[in-house]
Amino acid sequence: MKTFYNKIELSAYIEALKAKGHSVGFVPTMGALHNGHLSLVRAGFDKNDVVVVSIFVNPTQFNNSEDLLKYPRTLDDDVALLNSVSKTAIIVYAPSVEDIYTTKIEAQKFKFDGLEHEMEGAFRAGHFDGVGTIVKRLFEIVKPDYAYFGEKDFQQLQIIRKLVALHHLPVKIIGCEIYRTDDGLAMSSRNTRLTSQHRAISPFIYKTLKTAKIKFGTKSAQNVTEWVIKQFKNESLLELEYFIIADIETLKPVKRKSTKKTYRAFIALYAGDIRLIDNIALN
Ligand code: PAJ
Repeated sequence: MKTFYNKIELSAYIEALKAKGHSVGFVPTMGALHNGHLSLVRAGFDKNDVVVVSIFVNPTQFNNSEDLLKYPRTLDDDVALLNSVSKTAIIVYAPSVEDIYTTKIEAQKFKFDGLEHEMEGAFRAGHFDGVGTIVKRLFEIVKPDYAYFGEKDFQQLQIIRKLVALHHLPVKIIGCEIYRTDDGLAMSSRNTRLTSQHRAISPFIYKTLKTAKIKFGTKSAQNVTEWVIKQFKNESLLELEYFIIADIETLKPVKRKSTKKTYRAFIALYAGDIRLIDNIALN
């Protein structure tokens, strides 16, 4: 496996592959890789000859400096995991902060037709400016044919689609299903930081989402939301931040259900100090 730390060397290598007619898939990550990330890499090989995986803990998307500091950095383990998927066709790009933010560690300001103000945007100020900045920069460096994003971060996926549309970026975006552990917890790099007590209770999240989905078949969004809030009130180890049923196009909370629209339920909560998010398709 080839690992690059420098954008100029990486670009030259990718250009040479493209000149030979190879198509390039891209999976941007912040490392601490798990099976959820690997499912994106595997999806990359459906349509591409090589898959570039970037591993970069992007400082401008963290609104909490302690979260940035504590974010796991496990490059050797990450490379070993990627080797288990392919020894020859994966290219790792693990840049330094300077390689990405040459002079100033600063996010560009973006407008994403309002998607940036909902949910994660409301609770994590500046987060999507940081995500937009890094993903746009990485697209310019890697110039992929296809880029893969997980539905685990569904709002991020929709924002990247908007970024590509508004800025006419020459890349196709593929959304990939949420990869879960056997007990239903959505895989996340943050899961390793859960206490054993919080880890033990965490399947409650997906269980509640699945029941919310069934209830949404016959009940109003408000009714389902009230039910979810009550479940979390009874579960003292998990502190609900938000539960929102939203239209997948606008990400705005549903007021009145329409059979013509597609909805998802989104949840954010704290398990001790660890913030977790999850979501489920409703119809
Ligand atoms: P990170 O959290 O490392 O996630 C990288 C990609 O893996 C994202 O597209 C995310 O949605 C996907 N992913 C994470 N857990 C998943 C799971 N359980 N199932 C399916 N996909 C999953 O998201 C980021 O990094 C950053 O914001 C990034 C896009 C790299 C920009 O810095």
